[in-house]
Amino acid sequence: MTEDQARQAIIDLALSMTGHGINHGSAGNVSMRWNRGGGDGFLVTPSALPYDQCTIDDIVWMSVAAHEPVIDGRRRPSSEWRFHHDLYAHRADAQAIVHTHAPHCAALACLPRIQREGIPAFHYMVALAGGHDIRCAPYATFGTQALSDHVLAAMADRRACLMAHHGMLAIGASLEAALALAIELEWLARTYAQTLQLGGPALLSAQEMDRVLEKFSSYRP
Ligand code: 13P
Repeated sequence: MTEDQARQAIIDLALSMTGHGINHGSAGNVSMRWNRGGGDGFLVTPSALPYDQCTIDDIVWMSVAAHEPVIDGRRRPSSEWRFHHDLYAHRADAQAIVHTHAPHCAALACLPRIQREGIPAFHYMVALAGGHDIRCAPYATFGTQALSDHVLAAMADRRACLMAHHGMLAIGASLEAALALAIELEWLARTYAQTLQLGGPALLSAQEMDRVLEKFSSYRP
């Protein structure tokens, strides 16, 4: 894949998020790890630009290794570049990141109970995010280092999390994997919300979730 193809793949994915029901308008942001000749970095969507007006030249490259990241682009990077940067710096398994304002994730992430407990093991697919639950990162103003710090903590041993009063994010080994997990998380959030309306779900045991995690480790085509 060339850098131009990677830039186009990011735009195509960002455009597809609305159709998948996990985003709207110019909300959210998408990035992909992209190293340039020895320089660790990533490509990220520009800030505030509607995805249908975005061309490959609007995608911004940022360095990961530098203390003050180098920014290369004609646009400003996503206001959330800090958590993209910090996840690439600390998570070798993050090759792509999808952050959206998926409606059911965002709604759940406004509830005190979810902010305390996250989404518990009400369904075995919760394990797809990497553990027995899906945490909710505490609220901080968008684009701040405080929000990035909260996201990193909520993502410990996980591939996805909710963000209080905000939305969600998912990482993956590829853009497609991060998108698939984001779609799954929105399905889980919607289904969990339905179970709460019906009186609240029974939960799977820690032992059963360990069994599912073990099976997922070899679940592939
Ligand atoms: P950007 O357009 O700056 O990426 O911001 C969108 C967003 O969702 C902030 O959390």
